[in-house]
Amino acid sequence: MATVAGSSSKKTILVTGGAGFIGTHTVVQLLNGDFRVSIIDNLDNSVPEAVERVRELVGPQLSANLDFHIGDLRNKQDLENLFSQTKFDAVIHFAGLKAVGESVANPRRYFDNNLVGTINLYEVMAKYDCKKMVFSSSATVYGQPEKIPCVEDFQLMAMNPYGRTKLFLEEIARDIQRAEPEWKIILLRYFNPVGAHESGRIGEDPKGIPNNLMPYIQQVAVGRLPELNVYGNDYPTPDGSAIRDYIHVMDLADGHIAALGRLFTPSDIGCTAYNLGTGRGTSVLEMVAAFEKASGKKIPVKLCPRRPGDATQVYASTEKAEKELGWKAKYGVDEMCRDQWKWASNNPWGYQSKK
Ligand code: NAD
Ligand code: UFG
Repeated sequence: MATVAGSSSKKTILVTGGAGFIGTHTVVQLLNGDFRVSIIDNLDNSVPEAVERVRELVGPQLSANLDFHIGDLRNKQDLENLFSQTKFDAVIHFAGLKAVGESVANPRRYFDNNLVGTINLYEVMAKYDCKKMVFSSSATVYGQPEKIPCVEDFQLMAMNPYGRTKLFLEEIARDIQRAEPEWKIILLRYFNPVGAHESGRIGEDPKGIPNNLMPYIQQVAVGRLPELNVYGNDYPTPDGSAIRDYIHVMDLADGHIAALGRLFTPSDIGCTAYNLGTGRGTSVLEMVAAFEKASGKKIPVKLCPRRPGDATQVYASTEKAEKELGWKAKYGVDEMCRDQWKWASNNPWGYQSKK
């Protein structure tokens, strides 16, 4: 487990959206890495039980370094209450809405939540002189990439309102840092986060019918859904299905620890983006086969037309993160499916015993 080199005392990190999928896994690694952590989350897409499981995973001693606040970033007073009580060394900002289809149907909800929430956060951070931020961006900012692998200096493009919030928030971060050079901001562009903590105690628990491939496959495997719709079998790829760069959520969590390490170095890093991916592409049908192997369950598939807006093939260039963050993904798709199956088989209905 990485710790921040050269730190003389424990650092205190505010994790927004820390009760969510990526947040919980990152908080486990932060606590194991000897950070103090405060979570703020409005529980819009998460449950308190997830934070309880984080406490259980790290044990009572490290759990004493975690506090959890139910609050909403759109309400500045919630942030004021936190910052006025605790001196944060940095913020990891996960809180946001992420469902592409919902963002198309209701863009105002996305602009309000993701943009207003983040602008409030910057204002309160500035007021309390906390000017180090790790922001959850997404490979969605590459749009339909003309070339692969995606390199951080590619031209950026949004394909839908959700993607536009990530693009705007990247631009806002660059503008703030340009105007106030004392800020250090790392934009982490996640590729496709999947898998779960190896304990099977925490994992992804989407509300309603999942939009994303792996939670959907998982629900077919446990019998909650009858079959998987495979969107597109006529792509110019070896098996005709689309290719993505799936990354184990624990690798992603460690990427955040590496990013903090970079924020806490004396160098002038400005505002800079890193891809967090494996650099390897896997097709939808290959993911189905890998999950069948890990679970021993048959995943019935129905071949369907392409999903509008989907790219053929997306995967990351990992060079910049390897070189500057000293971080590289360790796990492959077999481990992703193994750990996700452990979570799914132990928690077929997610954090609640029955839905
Ligand atoms: P998640 O929904 O599981 O977690 C987000 C958390 O933020 C939830 O617990 C939610 O309740 C909370 N939240 C939302 N709005 C809030 C607000 N206004 N105030 C306080 N809390 C709020 O999602 P995740 O998969 O963990 O994603 C975390 C971040 O990573 C998001 O910003 C997302 O856009 C980004 N991201 C995710 C993926 C992915 O595929 N999971 C890919 C790329 C980027
Ligand atoms: N897919 C299916 N059936 C499904 C769901 C998905 O065939 O039921 C296919 C999609 O068509 C796509 C691939 O599986 O080809 C992956 O789809 P996901 O929805 O899991 O992921 P995306 O690559 O479309 O996008 C996700 C997030 C975005 C984020 C992006 C990069 O939804 O918000 O990863 O991080 F930007």
